[in-house]
Amino acid sequence: MQDALKSILKNSDNFVFLTGAGISEESGIPTFRGPGGLWKKYDPMKLASISGFYEDPKLVWEFYQDRQKLILGCKPNLGHLTIAEIERLKNTTILTQNIDGLHKRAGSKNIVELHGNIMRIKCTGCNFKGELQQQNLKDIQDLSPICKSCKNILRPEIVFFGEPLDQQAWKIAEESSGNCSVMFVVGTSLNVGPVNTLPLNAKRKGATLIEMNPEPTIFNNLMDFSFRGKATETLPKILEMIRNL
Ligand code: OAD
Repeated sequence: MQDALKSILKNSDNFVFLTGAGISEESGIPTFRGPGGLWKKYDPMKLASISGFYEDPKLVWEFYQDRQKLILGCKPNLGHLTIAEIERLKNTTILTQNIDGLHKRAGSKNIVELHGNIMRIKCTGCNFKGELQQQNLKDIQDLSPICKSCKNILRPEIVFFGEPLDQQAWKIAEESSGNCSVMFVVGTSLNVGPVNTLPLNAKRKGATLIEMNPEPTIFNNLMDFSFRGKATETLPKILEMIRNL
């Protein structure tokens, strides 16, 4: 497998990394499914759906404010850093479902945050958008926060279940998955659409699919190569191969 993979990596200069919660697990951010997953403890329909938000915004804000605090205290891990290093060597796009901003903090540049970013807020009534940092996290201590200009409720700029993805982000995701020669599917269970159609799109257009996950995903049969293990163990192996091509 090593020789076949090396030859594919050598002849490819158009990589996509499709990442999910698993890549940030080793930074201390829990995944959603599987043992210890957030959706084992909490109901996603109450906490991560648009109807849940309007039903009880205070409850939803409490959940996201706890996550904002957790994420602010976390650092990118070797998995994020390795992808950033690969981007310096090969033409790379990172399509992430993660809202934690860790790819950016690791130094990656070409990132599409398909499910938004938990540190950004927007108004449900007007065009106001803002960014939270450690120092202004206290501004949203008052749950639920209200927009200063139009007095409607503010919300995290993330995609809730029941909402479409940002059109521009989705367009880039479709284009880059359709044009890439290799797609690395890292730390995602591929349970959530429409993002889980991107590997199918890439495969249909002739890309090589490489799954990097301790567990097989539901699309395991589609994969050309599978690396079992944590992202911090498997991604450096890919980087080493690329460096030695
Ligand atoms: P999941 O929690 O569904 O899947 C996480 C995946 O990471 C699983 O397949 C694990 O086997 C794998 N994993 C765990 N630890 C890992 C590690 N150290 N290294 C590599 N892989 C590891 O998370 P997502 O697929 O990202 O959406 O979930 C997709 C979406 O569902 C999220 O973006 C979120 C959620 O509901 C919204 O909130 C809109």
